[in-house]
Amino acid sequence: EGVIDQKKRFAAATRRDSESKRGKKTEQEAWEDHQAEKATVRFGAKNKKQATDGYEFVFGDYVETSSEMETEEQRGCDSRTVAEKAKEGRKFLPIYAYRDELLELIEENQVLVIVGETGSGKTTQIPQYLQEVGYTKRGKIGCTQPRRVAAMSVASRVAQELGVKLGHEVGYSIRFEDCTSEKTVIKYMTDGMLLRELLIEPKLDSYSVIMIDEAHERTLCTDILFGLVKDLAMVRPDLRLIISSATLEAQKFSEYFDSALIYMIPGRRYPVEKLFSKWPEPDRLETAVRTVFQIHQTEPLGDILVFLTGQEEIETAETKLKLRMIDMGTKSSEIIICPIYSNLPTELQAKVFEPAPKGTRKVVLATNIAETSLTIDGIRYVVDPGYCKINSYNPRTGMESLLETPISKASAEQRAGRSGRTGPGKCFRLYNVKDLNATTTPEVQRANLASVVLTLKSLGIQDVFTFDFMDPPPEDALYKALELLYALGALDGKSEITKLGERMVEFPVDPMLSKMIVGSEKYKCSEEIITIAAMLSTGNSIFYRPKKQQYIADSARMIFYTENVGDHIALLRVYNSWKETNYSSQWCYENFIQSKSMRRARDIREQLAGLVRKIGVELTSNPNDLDAIKKAILAGFFPHTAKLQKDESYRRVKEPQTVYVHPSSGLFGESLSKWLVYHELVLTSREYMRHVTEMKPEWLVEIAPHYYELKDIEETRPKKTHRSSRSSTISKVDTKKKPKSQRGNKNKT
Ligand code: CDP
Ligand code: MG
Repeated sequence: EGVIDQKKRFAAATRRDSESKRGKKTEQEAWEDHQAEKATVRFGAKNKKQATDGYEFVFGDYVETSSEMETEEQRGCDSRTVAEKAKEGRKFLPIYAYRDELLELIEENQVLVIVGETGSGKTTQIPQYLQEVGYTKRGKIGCTQPRRVAAMSVASRVAQELGVKLGHEVGYSIRFEDCTSEKTVIKYMTDGMLLRELLIEPKLDSYSVIMIDEAHERTLCTDILFGLVKDLAMVRPDLRLIISSATLEAQKFSEYFDSALIYMIPGRRYPVEKLFSKWPEPDRLETAVRTVFQIHQTEPLGDILVFLTGQEEIETAETKLKLRMIDMGTKSSEIIICPIYSNLPTELQAKVFEPAPKGTRKVVLATNIAETSLTIDGIRYVVDPGYCKINSYNPRTGMESLLETPISKASAEQRAGRSGRTGPGKCFRLYNVKDLNATTTPEVQRANLASVVLTLKSLGIQDVFTFDFMDPPPEDALYKALELLYALGALDGKSEITKLGERMVEFPVDPMLSKMIVGSEKYKCSEEIITIAAMLSTGNSIFYRPKKQQYIADSARMIFYTENVGDHIALLRVYNSWKETNYSSQWCYENFIQSKSMRRARDIREQLAGLVRKIGVELTSNPNDLDAIKKAILAGFFPHTAKLQKDESYRRVKEPQTVYVHPSSGLFGESLSKWLVYHELVLTSREYMRHVTEMKPEWLVEIAPHYYELKDIEETRPKKTHRSSRSSTISKVDTKKKPKSQRGNKNKT
């Protein structure tokens, strides 16, 4: 039923998007026109025609190595090793033809903006070219990535191409995981990690080249890095800066970096047929799964890439796909499902790059990561439901949430393009592209800025309002960040970083969490607190709750909650019990605990312990004094408190906002503790507090007397919102230098 129905519907609902054939300007032509009188743009000069031909060109040039052109016989039965193939493949990447020219331009220009189609070889090749001509003799080559997985997988690919062990000459560095050594000369890292390196090495003296890759993603850290490396370029004339991007925003980058030269690497692109469903699809996951099967049954061999919003959706889709395979009698040898998302264990990440064996079709279920950061060869079909998860922050309420949002037109184009890299492709859009916004708002304009503001302060940037943001954040968000940092004691009344602030910066975690850690010294429970901090930082859930055994899993979990201790203490108990079994996986299995998350927690904990020692705090344990542990938690999280209401909802103590205990909490439906401290708020169907612990209201005035007044914790009086005077102290300092209208130097051009 399904397939035929689906097919008919697609046929009816689908219209061919033949923009390229209607003789419209190609993207490249439009781009060229647009650029004509603006910044200096150089196309890879060897073959200008290629650049302007857009969809037309191709066969002949590089084709033979791309897996698309490999014959079925070649697939799978090639005797060369992966490393040999990887090495040879380098010559066939589009960027190879422009190697020498690129190197010349990098030598001549301190800042170079490089634009090239995804998969053209920017990330993997440019650092190697630079190494080949000796840049690494002067210092490392650093290349930033917005995503952890991208940093890891690209580093591993480059190590393979160079035939070296990952972590030796080529390494990567992501939060809580440093895979580099003394030998490392090509270093891939998340943008956040380079920001942290600047704290230790403000002039990045050990680097000869910094490549800010995937600049078009405009993540918060990338945007902050722009401002910092721009300054750095002045004091380090020998340093080379490369800003690379997959999309046409290059003009903006060029302007920002004082009209830096833009170099376009012509990509090769095959026509992509874009099909879209006319009606919005009510259940996009279900439709995506059906579409995969439609493709499988009606289209020639070739891999399928499905864009989903996150791990959860990917796992659901995987289950649905498997069930449907059984339903339809699809042999498991026909379809190979490969998920890829940022929390996927490293050992499983490689699978996505392995070619599908002869006669099979790979179905890659990916997050946005496959949009531009990772290129998976062999994709011929893209299924795009049109959503991604982005974080958004409300400076007024301090509420941060991950929201599923429709993608932008720019993203839609990128996603479709993924199918036309090695041959003509097809993109099945489960939406109408007309309904999309042109671009996504940069993260700096929708993020909690507390962490980066503290970093900037630590780097000696006095006035964050005049920081040279490419796109300035809303002032409210900056105020909110300063206010919070002041309340935590990281900044003083003059908005300068305090000793406490400097100690907090040492920890690669959110300021509230780092305050909790530093604050634990006073309560003599740093051992317990770093365990809790590590458990909260794994990025994955600790408890395992299989659908068929929910009841047993829940009862197993409640063992850690005796006496209604709350989630933080429960996490501590889980960790300590696991430790007592000598970190046994079997124990995890028996207790419905995710051993993978536990191992990560252990790693993180070890690093936090090192940092605690580094700031000169002795690690002390105080396991039985739960009040002390809770007070230490409050030392960082006192702004996150809520009070029970008559209707059994909660209300934030300092904000007029109704919130609820998250269903994943051990206190959900159990406890009606009057006062709670929570780790974070998440917005799904309601505003939920995740990870909550009971506390006593009098602690608030004891621990944060500058934040809470007695009337806040009085039982009877209904509360109103109130803003304390500290915000105005801060505002004066940070804004006195310039009147509002002149802030930033955005307008100087
Ligand atoms: O950065 P850009 O998008 O321009 O390309 P790249 O990431 O350097 O990718 C160049 C080639 O390396 C592509 O053909 C990828 O498929 C391949 N690659 C890979 O096989 N495995 C990786 N982990 C990364 C790249
Ligand atoms: Mg790249």
